Amino acid sequence: MTTPEIPAAALPPGLPDPAQLARLANEFFSHRPATGGVPLPEKLHPAGLTLPPGSFGPSTPAAIPGGPPPGAHLLPTSPQSAANLGASWPARVPHAPAGNGVPETLFATAPACDGRLGSHLLAVPQASPFLFAEAQALGVPHAAPPPPAAVVAAAAATPRFYFVPEAAAERRPPFAEAAPPLDVHAVRRDFPLLAERVSGRPLVWLDNAATTQKPQAVIDRLAHFYTHENSNIHRAAHTLAARATDAYEHARETVRRFIGAASTGEIVFVRGATEAINLVAAAWGCRHVGAGDEIVVSHLEHHANIVPWKRLADERGATLRVIPVDDSGQVRLDEYQRLLNERTRIVAVTQVSNALGTVVPVAEIVAIARRAGIRTLVDGAQSVSHLKVDVQALGADFFVFSGHKVFGPTGIGVLHGRREVLEDLAPWQGGGNMIADVSFQRVVYQPPPARFEAGTGNIADAVGLGAALEYVERIGIENIAQYEHGLLEYATGRLAEVPGLRPIGTARDKASVLSFVLAGYSTDEVGQALNREGIAVRTGHHCAQPILRRFGLETTVRPSLAFYNTCEEIDLLVTVLHRLAAARPVAGRQG
Ligand code: ALA
Repeated sequence: MTTPEIPAAALPPGLPDPAQLARLANEFFSHRPATGGVPLPEKLHPAGLTLPPGSFGPSTPAAIPGGPPPGAHLLPTSPQSAANLGASWPARVPHAPAGNGVPETLFATAPACDGRLGSHLLAVPQASPFLFAEAQALGVPHAAPPPPAAVVAAAAATPRFYFVPEAAAERRPPFAEAAPPLDVHAVRRDFPLLAERVSGRPLVWLDNAATTQKPQAVIDRLAHFYTHENSNIHRAAHTLAARATDAYEHARETVRRFIGAASTGEIVFVRGATEAINLVAAAWGCRHVGAGDEIVVSHLEHHANIVPWKRLADERGATLRVIPVDDSGQVRLDEYQRLLNERTRIVAVTQVSNALGTVVPVAEIVAIARRAGIRTLVDGAQSVSHLKVDVQALGADFFVFSGHKVFGPTGIGVLHGRREVLEDLAPWQGGGNMIADVSFQRVVYQPPPARFEAGTGNIADAVGLGAALEYVERIGIENIAQYEHGLLEYATGRLAEVPGLRPIGTARDKASVLSFVLAGYSTDEVGQALNREGIAVRTGHHCAQPILRRFGLETTVRPSLAFYNTCEEIDLLVTVLHRLAAARPVAGRQG
C-alpha cells in the first residue's frame, strides 16, 4: 500500500508547498535551543518502517530519584491488590512446577526482587529473534486521505525524516527505500484518536492488547447506522427494520469471510471472547462434561479461558489439566500429548498469549486433539488483528474473538462453531429471536446462529465490527503481519539494550506483545513514568496470573503493538526506559 504523491498544483489554493513546509519545519527544529531533551535514536529502523510526522517529542522524562528498596515489589502496589493479598497468597506461594522441571518453590518470589536474578534461575533467555509467519505484501491500494491530512503527509514525505536532523537521516540504511508493506502515515491518519495529546505530549498508544483504536470508517459506520438505519432486526416489518437486518447480516457475512468460515450459520454474535467461551462452557459443557472428565488448557491462558472451564469442572466433578510452557513461554507439545487420554473432553487454548505474545502452534494442538476425537476451542482474541486466521484450515470446533481488539467497537464479539457442533449445542440463554415456536407446553428453537442470540443483540456494534474487518481487509492482514513483524523485531532489539530490563516471554514465534520488568522499579512506577511522556502501556497481571507466576512475577509492564505504531514510538519508549534505568542504577548491573 502506498500513499499517492500529491503534486503541489493539486493542493487547494493558499496552502503552502509541501516541500517548503518540510524545509521550514526542519529548519525550525534544527535551531531549537538545547534543553537536555531526548537523545535522537541511534538505531537504524528496519525496512518499511518509517516515522510519522511530528511523533518524536523532544521530551526529557523526569528521573525518579531514590525509589523503593530492593524487595518492595513483593508488597501490593494498589489498594485492590492489598485487599486481595489474603485470597491470592496461596497462589503467590509457589505451587506449580516450572516447565524446566525446577520446582518454583525454590525461588518464585526472588525474581520479583530483581528481574536479573529470576532470569538466571529460570534460565529465561534475555533476548531472542521473534519470527512469525512470513507474509506476502499484497499491495492493496488504500483509499486516498482527505486533503488537509494529505498536505501534512506530503510535507513529511519530502525530506524522508521529518523533524529529524539530516545527520540522523543519513545514518538510516539503504533498505529504508524498500517498498513498505503498508504506509503507516496513511494508516495513522485513519485513526483520529492517534492525534490526541496526553500529558501535554503526542499520544503513543502501546496498549493494543487491551483494546485497539478505531478507524474513522468504523466511527462513521456507527453514526450512519444510528442516523439512517436504526431499528430492531425483524426484516419484514418496515423499511428501517429491513435496513437494520441487512446491515447486521452483512456484518455476519463479513465476519465469515474474514475468518474463512464455511457459512454464516456458523457465526454467532456475542459480547466478546469472554462471553463466547462462557457460552461454550455452559451450552456444550452441560451435555458433554461429567464426573471424572478432563478439560485441557495451557499455562498461557487469559482468565477468560480458565475461569469458565474451572467453574464447569468444579460443578461437574471434572478436572482442569494444564499444558506447561518452556522458559521462553512456548507451550510444550510433548507434554501436551502426554496430557491427553480417554477422559479428555475438550482442549481450549489461546492462539496468541495476551501476557507474553507467544504465538501458540494451535494448528498442531487442534490436529492432535481431533485425531483423538477431542473437541477444541481456540481463543483468537489476541490473534485476529495480527495474523491471518482461516478457521476451516485450523479445524477447531470453536474459535472466538472480540471486536474491540480488531479495531471494532466494544461489546461485540464472535463465536465461530463448526455447523454440526453448534447444532448439537443446547441453547444458552432463552428469549426472543432464538425460538421458532413457543407455547406453555413446548418451545421449538431456531437453528444456529439465532439459537444462541436470544434477545435484542448489539446490532449497531456488529455493523461496526463488520466495518472494522472490511477496513483490515483493505489494508491486507498479510501486510499488517509483515509490518508488525518488523516492528516487533526492532522493538525487541531496542528493549534488550535497556540495563536491568528483563523481557518476559521470549518465544521464537511472537506477535505484538513486549512484556518486561525493570530492575529497581515496580511495574506501576514504570507505567506512570511512561504515561507522563504520553505513552500508554498496560501494567499489572493482564488477567493472566498463572503465566506470570510461572515466571515468578505478579505483574509486568506490557507494551503491545498494532500496525499503526512506528519505530519512532519505540525509540521514545526505549529512551524513557533508559532514563529510568539510569536514575536507579542497580549494583552489578551489566550494560
Ligand atoms: N484481555 C485484555 C488484556 O490483555 C483486557 O489487556
